[in-house]
Amino acid sequence: MILSIESSCDDSSIALTRINDKKIIFHQKISQDKEHSIYGGVVPEIAARLHAISLPKILENIKPYFKNIKAIAITNEPGLSVSLIEGVMMAKALSISLELPLIAINHLKGHIYSLFLEQEAIFPLSILLLSGGHSLILEAKKHNEIKIIAKTLDDSFGESFDKVAKMLSLGYPGGPIVEHYASLAKNKNISFPIPLLNKNLAFSFSGLKNAVRLEIEKQKSTQNKALDSNSNQILESKLNEICYAFQKAAITHITQKTKLYLQDSTIKHFGVVGGASANKTLRNELNNLALKFDKETLFAPLEFCSDNAAMIGRCGIEYYKAGIFTKLDSLDISPHSRIFT
Ligand code: KG4
Ligand code: ZN
Repeated sequence: MILSIESSCDDSSIALTRINDKKIIFHQKISQDKEHSIYGGVVPEIAARLHAISLPKILENIKPYFKNIKAIAITNEPGLSVSLIEGVMMAKALSISLELPLIAINHLKGHIYSLFLEQEAIFPLSILLLSGGHSLILEAKKHNEIKIIAKTLDDSFGESFDKVAKMLSLGYPGGPIVEHYASLAKNKNISFPIPLLNKNLAFSFSGLKNAVRLEIEKQKSTQNKALDSNSNQILESKLNEICYAFQKAAITHITQKTKLYLQDSTIKHFGVVGGASANKTLRNELNNLALKFDKETLFAPLEFCSDNAAMIGRCGIEYYKAGIFTKLDSLDISPHSRIFT
């Protein structure tokens, strides 16, 4: 088995994956959503402290399997440095004490393998990766030949949901919360401008975020004038409408840019990964779009869209089979992704 550890942001997770048939033997994740929610985003120091508590707790559950482990796969980039280091320190300690080789895994590559849990990978593959830290279109010719086709000029897709939720004091992570309020919208009179209406293959969400901020201010001031009050809250019906209009603009932007890419791509398989790929409206829109271009769309199971160690373990199997390991002394961390060009 491969023992895998993921701690790049605010999820502490460990998995065991059987090498020969890729079966997930064990997977556990302790999320920190509650602890970060009051701040409207991840606080790195809190994340690191919670990893230091949660990772050893999870490890206790797999002690009986230690004798079956052949290698340790560990996320070492990209992510929050203080979070990455917690997992890497645990991996190094286990590597020394159990005398096992280490495999350094790029978190983004891990997300790609969330499409292939317990199954063979498919290449070549086009990938849309939407998470809290990234919005990318990637092309993977094979396991170790991945090219960036498009990236964001500013915020990422998931991050823009987090920031809108924060502006509306809805908590963290913003994605599922904004999606929920959007689904309750009855009136749909508000609309936001779609970013980057040009032919460039790039994403941008900061202008949209600013338009949402101005709309929230406008709604608050209209309400306060009408009610002669000084409230900081906006009516629930308006809140739903803003979430709906924001989500619509953000997803339209994603589908427009993805269309530009898919119409010229000859690659048959199109995978959508990352925490934000759990958004149901997004999944529907992308599925319909890909069908128009005769592509086969792949999604990760909902449970494995957000950060998890199972995808890291699945990716680790490819390295293990190719005999590629990382020496203890050269295993370092990086906040940035160093392997894609
Ligand atoms: O992949 P992930 O778990 O962590 C990173 O690698 O960043 O992605 C987390 C991001 C957060 O920004 C979260 O708000 C977003 O994914 N997200 C969503 C949804 N569920 C999670 N964004 C939009 N709609 C969702 N349903
Ligand atoms: Zn992620």
